[in-house]
Amino acid sequence: MNRRPMTSGRADRSGQLDTRAKRVLPGGVNSNVRLLAPPVFFDHGRGCRLVDVDGNEYIDYLLGQGPNFLGHAPADILNAVDEASRRGMLYGAQHPLEVEAAELMLDILEWPEQIRFGVSGSESVQAALRLARAVTGRTRFIRFEGHYHGWFDNVLVKMEDGQAVAASEGQVAHHVDDSITLPWNDISAVLETLAAHDDIAAVIMEPVMLNAGSIEPAPGYLEGMREACDSHGLVLIFDEVISGFRVAAGGAAQRYGVIPDLATYGKAMAGGWPVSALAGRAEMMERFGTGAVNHSGTFNASVMACAATAATLRHLINDPPYETIASRGERLMAGLRQLASDHGLDLNVQGVPMAFHAGFGDGPVTDYRSLGRLDAARYNQFTLALIDHGVWAASRGIWYLSAAHEESDIDETLERVDGAMKAAVS
Ligand SMILES: Cc1ncc(COP(=O)(O)O)c(C=O)c1O
Repeated sequence: MNRRPMTSGRADRSGQLDTRAKRVLPGGVNSNVRLLAPPVFFDHGRGCRLVDVDGNEYIDYLLGQGPNFLGHAPADILNAVDEASRRGMLYGAQHPLEVEAAELMLDILEWPEQIRFGVSGSESVQAALRLARAVTGRTRFIRFEGHYHGWFDNVLVKMEDGQAVAASEGQVAHHVDDSITLPWNDISAVLETLAAHDDIAAVIMEPVMLNAGSIEPAPGYLEGMREACDSHGLVLIFDEVISGFRVAAGGAAQRYGVIPDLATYGKAMAGGWPVSALAGRAEMMERFGTGAVNHSGTFNASVMACAATAATLRHLINDPPYETIASRGERLMAGLRQLASDHGLDLNVQGVPMAFHAGFGDGPVTDYRSLGRLDAARYNQFTLALIDHGVWAASRGIWYLSAAHEESDIDETLERVDGAMKAAVS
């Protein structure tokens, strides 16, 4: 297959589409995150491979920002969605598949009792925060540096001189005051804050920090957080939009053995279909059921979303890919470290093998502040070399693995990375 450099000289079909896209789509994209990637337009994806409109092929470690946990175009999910949607896509009323999808999800997760489906992780996070406020009668919440919970006004922040501030023009800046932002993996920071404030409704966190870095909770940290929430009457919310169904079938709650009160899910739960969910104990979730707490949405629990969710969950139950993905991820991590050392590059590779992180600089990275010490600009440059060598990986350093990455794909990835590293050091 032809391979033309994708990051320079764009007189190709992607380049032409980019010119057209920039006229009709702001920045040529439909999600600001995509402004960070080179403007390559894709023709199709199969398994762990992507092919762009110029015929270049890539081994994909972005996986649509995580959702393609079973690889691109998994046949059983496609068939389930196709078959179900031929009977109508949306009823604005109930249908059997939403019950089936919820039952399967509860069976896998084990701890929650009820589910509310939504369309995006951002929305389900908002539902969780509203419910936590309703349950506690308090207003504010604690969240953590570097944890992403969607693009809405009350959760979108950037760190400036150690302070969390609104990250976008047009954001209602005082909505950021709804939260107190603390360093993660530091239980004393939470305990001190709780001693000083009595208006906190909830603590929300990525239980394993994956949106920025791949950082596991320190031993005892999640347990300490559970205890702190219990003793202060707070709702503990795990944002499992990335970790759910990825770091274990039961997500981070299962992997680390700590049960939240509410948890949000998205990405890996539906084989690439846009769907999200809020899960929790019935005692809390019933407030949606009585109508006391509003959570609505035209597209919630569409036929396609529920068919995709049910088919994905059945796949994960019948053919659990977790051990295979973990061992292939470990092998890729070790291979990257070895290649970096061969080429004299200071590449730090760490985290959970199903979604690990790579960056230039000294590790280990234990929180957002230490992540900031890595050389992001140099890694960003390196991802362009990776793309030129047929490895599609995110410039922010995360490498998502899927069930479709075979041993031979890992071998081929390492050969391609070798070429990219040679180019990077030459
Ligand atoms: C941990 C986490 N929570 C919430 C979201 C928001 O989900 P969505 O992009 O589906 O709105 C994301 C998205 O990347 C995420 O990583």
